[in-house]
Amino acid sequence: MLNDAAKAERLLKRMTLTEKIGQTVQFGRCEAQEIEWIKQGKIGSLLNVYGAEKINELQRIAVEESRLGIPLLIGDDVIHGFRTIFPIPLGEAASWDVEAMERNARIAAAEAASEGIRWTFAPMVDMTREPRWGRIAEGAGEDVYLANQAAAARVRGFQSPDENGYPTVAACVKHFAGYGWVEGGRDYDTTGMSERVLRETVLPPFYEGIRAGALSVMTAFTDLNGVPASGNKFLIREILKGEWNYPGIVVSDWESVEELIHHGYAEDRKDAACKGFAAGVDMDMHSGVYLEHLERIFQERPDMLPLLDDAVLRILTVKYRLGLFDHPYVDVRKRERVMMIPEHVEQARDSARKSIVLLKNRGKTLPLDLGARKRIGLIGPLADDRHNAMGCWAWKGRKEDVVTVLDAFRSRIAPLAEVTYAKGSEVKQPLERGLEEAVAAARDSDVAVVVVGESEDMTGEHYNRAYIGLPECQERLIRAIKRETGTPVVVVLMSGRPLAVEWVHEHADAVVEAWHPGTQAGNALVDVLIGEYNPSGKLPVTFPRSTGQIPIYYNRKNTGRPHLYEDYVDVSDEPLYPFGYGLSYTTFEYADLRLDAWQIARDGSVNVSANVTNTGERDGEEVVQLYIRDVVGSTTRPVKELKGFRKILLKQGETKRISFTLTPNELGMLDERLQFAVEPGKFLVWIGPNSGEGLQGEFTVMDTKEREGDGLQRH
Ligand code: BGC
Repeated sequence: MLNDAAKAERLLKRMTLTEKIGQTVQFGRCEAQEIEWIKQGKIGSLLNVYGAEKINELQRIAVEESRLGIPLLIGDDVIHGFRTIFPIPLGEAASWDVEAMERNARIAAAEAASEGIRWTFAPMVDMTREPRWGRIAEGAGEDVYLANQAAAARVRGFQSPDENGYPTVAACVKHFAGYGWVEGGRDYDTTGMSERVLRETVLPPFYEGIRAGALSVMTAFTDLNGVPASGNKFLIREILKGEWNYPGIVVSDWESVEELIHHGYAEDRKDAACKGFAAGVDMDMHSGVYLEHLERIFQERPDMLPLLDDAVLRILTVKYRLGLFDHPYVDVRKRERVMMIPEHVEQARDSARKSIVLLKNRGKTLPLDLGARKRIGLIGPLADDRHNAMGCWAWKGRKEDVVTVLDAFRSRIAPLAEVTYAKGSEVKQPLERGLEEAVAAARDSDVAVVVVGESEDMTGEHYNRAYIGLPECQERLIRAIKRETGTPVVVVLMSGRPLAVEWVHEHADAVVEAWHPGTQAGNALVDVLIGEYNPSGKLPVTFPRSTGQIPIYYNRKNTGRPHLYEDYVDVSDEPLYPFGYGLSYTTFEYADLRLDAWQIARDGSVNVSANVTNTGERDGEEVVQLYIRDVVGSTTRPVKELKGFRKILLKQGETKRISFTLTPNELGMLDERLQFAVEPGKFLVWIGPNSGEGLQGEFTVMDTKEREGDGLQRH
């Protein structure tokens, strides 16, 4: 039996130059012209085509009417669900539940594949410290350790085996690389960073996704240090295909090869095609420049032909890997068995409630006190909004499937307490008589739950914000309720990014971050608000007090004057909520930090443990976090770095000893030559509930080795 690569080699030998180039061409529409091209073997892949029947018909044309019968690779942006919508990826990351991330991706893949889609342009693994950037919603937040776990889990989930044993869909780690570093959070803008930041912070989640088997990588729109990523040889040929020996497909972003012209990096479409291809972009998404110009380019530059064979082999190998040659068609009856089945909906609800973060809870305002004589006011523009609850990139989600907060209040709270609803405001502008109605509803209630935040079109691609507070009309709504009534206020935030809501934090009685929770938004929120689920989410990103503090992230470097001056004269140095932060309806106490060694060899490891006790009045889950600091290095190190976490369930009164092992993998860093090394010297270590608190210990790495060889692994 030939393996996939060998099968691809065999097929390659039969291909003409035109057919080879055809495999590198992808279009985001399929009309008469594209169908003609499919017949001529001039298109290898499509996106934005939907419906099992339609996709089967396109596959039939490719398989039966083109000379070699090579099936198409059909892609789509299946980002956080297909029809069943899970929380946005940033929200999902707030669950710190790696298994849930994998499960959600598996379900999304199964639903998409039942429609004939075999490739998703996900996960987005772009690191960012820039909450103004709309696409922060699509990633796993600011920390590289958490992002690594999320990248691998999502890839495993998408590519988990289908009933024939093939990856359900091919995953695509994107956008290679540096996209999250856009200046000012302006999408597509320039990025500049040192090779150190690139290798320490930006590249690792790509590497982890690839290690988990990601069959493709998408290049970024942006210019990195003067060379646009979609024409960047250093990134693609040297690092990705060279150093990492990556065997999968490299696809451009939408027209990003053609955009080399606007960047001032290519003269015209032909030059763009040549530069993109030479840099290592195997497939051109939608711009058509490969289709138009590669043939001529190879005639003029026969020395480049081996690159074409390499690109085509990558694409064909993935098609074999997905079983497309043996199973080009999807069984149209499968959709019924898979799409939005109860198990998927239940998972969406579970995942959404796990992603909710309790940020403040003064005097146990939450969980809501229900009872026959209780009156609950539900207020706010997002309390009954089906569309925005799904968040960005949820094209195949349907409004009618969404359970809003109001729906869930009506079905689950109204039988127990009196519910009054008032919209109060639109998301971006005031509503006529909105404030009056909202104030009246709040005045007549024992507690007001105000659901505010961002609409879907304030987050995601090119939806950047210069100011990341609540829209003014919404803050005015909360202010009016506070000013005019004495009713306790619970603010529920739905958003695709951290919000600078200092005023809300100071004045609301409770604050809950729900992100854009997806199809089961209302049920998940009610589970948390009434205490059927004890919140367990922790922030995967720092919340600033004001937009002016950006970038603000927990693992900053120390300055030379750390205690002498404040960062700003007009805003505190502290974030509103630190990375890793989140409350529960119970309380956890950390005690008795122990290390099994005070000194270890450079290739040695140390076990760090602490007792965590549930000291409150109900069972609850806690995300126990491990941080380190390498105190002195050949290059400076961050003041804290996450190196482990565990999400545990503790029954009321229960204590568990949670232990972590720090190995060279966690203790190593890139030294002054950018080589991975564990450097001797003192390390601080913390186990705690978030990046700002914890029990502290220390140990020393000695300049000795336990074993021969350097014993160090790169990660
Ligand atoms: C986005 C990608 C996406 C592609 C295809 C682009 O605009 O940047 O993330 O996969 O479109 O829809």
